[in-house]
Amino acid sequence: MKTARFLANPLLTPLDLALVSSFVRNGQLVGIPTETVYGLAADVYQPDAIQKIFTIKGRPADNPLIVHISHLNQLNRLTESPHPLLMRLAEQFWPGPLTLIFFRKPEIDSIVSAGLSTIAVRMPSHPCALQIIDELKTPLAAPSANRSGYPSPTTADHVLSDFDGQISAVVDGGPCLEGIESTVVGFVENQLTLFRPGAIHREAIEDVLHTRLFDPQMKNRPISPGMKYRHYAPRAKVILVEDENDFPKKIENASSYIPKDLNAQNLYSHLRKADQLGYLEVIILLTDSIRSNEALMNRLTRASEV
Ligand code: TXA
Ligand code: MG
Repeated sequence: MKTARFLANPLLTPLDLALVSSFVRNGQLVGIPTETVYGLAADVYQPDAIQKIFTIKGRPADNPLIVHISHLNQLNRLTESPHPLLMRLAEQFWPGPLTLIFFRKPEIDSIVSAGLSTIAVRMPSHPCALQIIDELKTPLAAPSANRSGYPSPTTADHVLSDFDGQISAVVDGGPCLEGIESTVVGFVENQLTLFRPGAIHREAIEDVLHTRLFDPQMKNRPISPGMKYRHYAPRAKVILVEDENDFPKKIENASSYIPKDLNAQNLYSHLRKADQLGYLEVIILLTDSIRSNEALMNRLTRASEV
C-alpha cells in the first residue's frame, strides 16, 4: 500500500479533506495531527478498522484507545449521564489535551476499550483534527501513531517512519505544539484519579476542582492499562543523570547522544533522532526545569526503565 501524504496548513483543502475522509469511511487508517502527538485514527464504529490499529501498532489487546470528538454533543453517543465533575473539566479544558474516562455505552464495540466498561474521550484542539472529525460526523478512535512501546510521533515524518506503506494516508499538520500526550483523568472508586500525567498539568486540574487528584502510583498498581507496558523507549538505552557532577564522566563515549535543551516539545524528536543516527545511548541531565514537569519526568522514567 502506498501511504499518501496530505498537507494541512492548518486545514486540509476541500478535495484533500474528501479523500482523507473517504479512507476513514472505508475502514482504513489515517495518521492525523493533534496538539499533543500524531494519532493513528479509525472510525469508532468500525471494529475491523480498530482491530487493524492494534495489529499494526503491535499493541497489547488489553490496552484501550482514546476516542476523539469535535463537539460536546458527540459525547452522548459514547457515554450516558457523565459525572458532573468530569463535565466541569470538559467545559474547562476542551478542546485541549485532557482525556476523560466515562462509562462506555454498549453500542460502542468493546474492542475500542479493550473490554473495559469505560471509555476514554477527548476533544483535541488541532484545527485539522477537528476538521476531519466534523467532516466524518463520527468520533475517531486514535492511539498515538507509533509502534507500541517506542517513542510517540510529533511530526508526519515520524508517523511515516513507523507506518509507511501500512496506512492509507498521513495528514501533515506540522510539528505538534505540546509534543507530549494528553493528561488522562477518571474515577477510581469515587476518587478522581490522575491516570496519566500529560500536557495539562495536575495543578491546573486541581485548581478547577478545588481538590487534589488521587495518584495511582501511590498504591503501586497500574489502573490505566497502558501504564504497565514498556513505553516511549528508543532502541538506544536512556540514561538519566541526577547530579550535574556525574555528568562529564559519562559523556566521553562517541556512541552517546546528549540532547541539548530537552523539553516536553522536543523529547520524542530527540529520542527518535538518537535511533536514526545509530547512537547506543541517550544521556539526559535532569535539570530543575525537567524535574518540575511531571509528564516529562514520567516519560523519561518510563523510557529509561527498559
Ligand atoms: O494525546 C493523546 O492522548 C494522544 C493523541 C493521539 O490524542 N493519544 C494517546 O493515545 O496518547 P495512547 O493510546 O497512546 O494512550 C492512551 C492512554 C493509555 O495509557 C491507555 O491505557 C489509557 O489512555 N486509556 C484509554 N482508555 C482507557 C480507559 N477506559 N481506562 C483507563 N485508561 C485508558
Ligand atoms: Mg501511546
